[in-house]
Amino acid sequence: MDINMQVQLYLIIMVNETPDSEAATGKEPGNNAPPADGPRPDQGSGTSPEAELAMLRERVRALESELAKTVDIFEGIVETTDDGIMVENEQGRVSLVNSGLVRMLGYEDKSDVIDRPWTHFFSLESEKKVAGRPGVYESLLLTRDGRKIPILITSTSFSVQGRYMGVLSVIKDTTFQKQTEERLQALSRKVISLQEEERARLARELHDEIGQQMAAVQLIISGIKQQSEPRREHILMLADKIKNIPAELRRICKGLRPAALDSLGLISAVNEMTNEFVSVYGINIDVKIEEFDDKDLKPEISINVYRIIQEAISNAVRHSGATVITIAMKRAGNKVLLIIADDGGGFDPSQNRSGLGLDSMRERAALCGGTADVESEPGKGTEINVIIPL
Ligand SMILES: Nc1ncnc2c1ncn2[C@@H]1O[C@H](COP(=O)(O)OP(=O)(O)O)[C@@H](O)[C@H]1O
Ligand SMILES: [Mg+2]
Repeated sequence: MDINMQVQLYLIIMVNETPDSEAATGKEPGNNAPPADGPRPDQGSGTSPEAELAMLRERVRALESELAKTVDIFEGIVETTDDGIMVENEQGRVSLVNSGLVRMLGYEDKSDVIDRPWTHFFSLESEKKVAGRPGVYESLLLTRDGRKIPILITSTSFSVQGRYMGVLSVIKDTTFQKQTEERLQALSRKVISLQEEERARLARELHDEIGQQMAAVQLIISGIKQQSEPRREHILMLADKIKNIPAELRRICKGLRPAALDSLGLISAVNEMTNEFVSVYGINIDVKIEEFDDKDLKPEISINVYRIIQEAISNAVRHSGATVITIAMKRAGNKVLLIIADDGGGFDPSQNRSGLGLDSMRERAALCGGTADVESEPGKGTEINVIIPL
């Protein structure tokens, strides 16, 4: 039973409990027939009117206690849920509210909300969308201190015994979903722009490094073509120009996909990468790899672990001012444990940052079914803890 149904039931029970209802008096058993076992008042032919009356009283008491229990249960449900629940009457005023909605609105007591026009609690732009109509709407809740909370409202009009009671709304705070949605959108925008940047970089490198050299080669060849006898120094010049091209191509391809990863495995590729960082940036990198056999590692794990290490080192080099970076990787049972730590300046990971590197580390670990946690504090260095199941 969904919360709407539960709330409707609860409200129907509440209404049936009012003094003008006959259901609880036993005069008209209807749907609320009591569970009593003993003889029914109209059955026992030999019982005295006093005894019948006593039996009737007993049945009413049993019925009342059943009803009180049911009301308690539904009241409990309505009150315990974090979702907001509200009923607006025909005059557009709040006639019932639960503690969840009072809390969401930032008030202390239900009496702060009851009897006020329901439009008071919704921002104007949402008023048009939800004005007393049943349906499911995205909207904004206006809190006491003027904040606007994104919400999802499910409204149903409901009647009890043919009488229209108002509009019942269940209100869900969607702040978390909205934030996640926005984060994902920002992430995909970043991924796309990063992809474009990467293509532009590749185009530039191919043009500047390979294209320029090929143009020079073309020039020398057209010179040679005009000669009746090719001159030796021109052939040597040609050989000299061509000599560097394979190495350049290798360097560019390595940036796209480290060849060592496929030919020599993760450990060698990591060692090769760290050696490069050491020689280019003069930083100290301590690599400790224990009980780790990379022979049977799935290719998607190898490349993702490689990229996580690469990003963590490049962050430490670019942002931390560290003197030592430590990489520890080992196998524990059926998991790879990886720690990349630096002794640099650290940062506050809870603050929103514009980069993509930290998110991509987490995404890569998640892609392998694992996790990557970033632990850092200003002045205390940074530690990236990665766990990946094998
Ligand atoms: N090891 C680190 N030491 C200090 N600051 C760091 C470190 N790693 C990340 N940061 C901080 O977190 C930010 C976001 O990092 P990241 O997501 O990799 O993006 P980018 O490296 O492109 O800035 C960095 O700009 C930096 O301020
Ligand atoms: Mg980075």
